[in-house]
Order: sequence, then structure tokens, then C-alpha cells
Amino acid sequence: MTRLIAGALIAGMITAATLLAASCAKEWPPGNARKGQEVFNGKGYCLSCHGKDAYINKRPQQPPQIDRMIKELAKPPANFRKPSTLQSKTNEVLFLDIKEGHPFTVMFPKTFLTDQEIDDVVAYLLEIRDEVSLAEKVHQP
Ligand code: HEC
Repeated sequence: MTRLIAGALIAGMITAATLLAASCAKEWPPGNARKGQEVFNGKGYCLSCHGKDAYINKRPQQPPQIDRMIKELAKPPANFRKPSTLQSKTNEVLFLDIKEGHPFTVMFPKTFLTDQEIDDVVAYLLEIRDEVSLAEKVHQP
């Protein structure tokens, strides 16, 4: 009987340890970069200011007044392909940049995106950050 209980206890402990390990392995952000890219170029319409796939010069064709407005902004849209842009930012800050926007700029709060969609976009931006810093290393003499 005691053996049975001990066995059950050990089995329980193993299950708990496995579950714990699985939850720790979950990376922050819990986002999916591929879905984030879709949101960036699609529903989020981030490409309107930040450019398709975050290439700042690849903005879609838009009414001229929108293009003019973007050109004349006191604070231009962030260029995510510039190495310094994303480097100093934590994931949490990026999340809030998107969710709450930047006051007094046209980076408005993205209230039309769910938290999951924002997590996905953050994962996409982190992927770009890694790509950009890798390219920087390769180009160094
Ligand atoms: C109407 C134009 C516009 C749209 C659309 C837009 N942004 Fe921005 N975004 C800006 C501007 C302008 C800034 C720079 C604000 C500043 O300098 O404080 C910015 C800054 C940011 C930053 C902070 C970067 C930094 O260097 O601090 C993030 C992150 C960001 N945008 C993500 C997004 C995402 C994701 C979307 C789509 C869901 C989006 N933006 C849509 C204009 C836009």
C-alpha cells in the first residue's frame, strides 16, 4: 500500500516537473513571427508608415496627402531595419509602444489589435532585429 502511494507520489512529481519545464521553455514573447508579419502588412496596416516588411522605403501606394503627411512629420516613423532602432528595446517596451502608441506622434495606440496579435508583431520585430544585427556582423571587416 505504502509502495502504491509512494509510486503515485513520484509519478505526480514527475508530471509536475515536466509541466514546469514546459512552461519555462515558453519563450517571451509568446508570439508567432509569421503571424506577426501578416498583421504588420495586413490588419495592423503598419506598412503604411513603416513600409512593407519594415523596409521604410517600401510604403504602399497611398493617396498623396498621406505620403505628404508622413514626409512632413516632426517625428518620422521608426525604421526597424536600422540597427539602433530595436536594439535597446525590451520586449515589454515594444509591446507597449504598439498597444499604447507614442503620445504626440502619429504612432497612435493600436486598440484594434488583440494582445495576441501584438505579441505576434513583437515576435516579428525581434526576428528583424536578429536579422539586422547578423547582417551588421557579416559586413564588419
Ligand atoms: C500613421 C503612421 C504609423 C503607423 C500606421 C504605425 N506607426 Fe509605428 N510609429 C510611427 C511613428 C511616427 C513612430 C515614431 C514615434 C516617435 O518618434 O516617438 C513610430 C514608432 C513605432 C515604434 C517605436 C519604435 C522606436 O524606435 O521607438 C514601434 C515599435 C512601432 N511604431 C510599431 C508599429 C506597429 C507594429 C504598427 C502597426 C500595428 C505601427 N507602428 C503603425 C508611425 C506609425
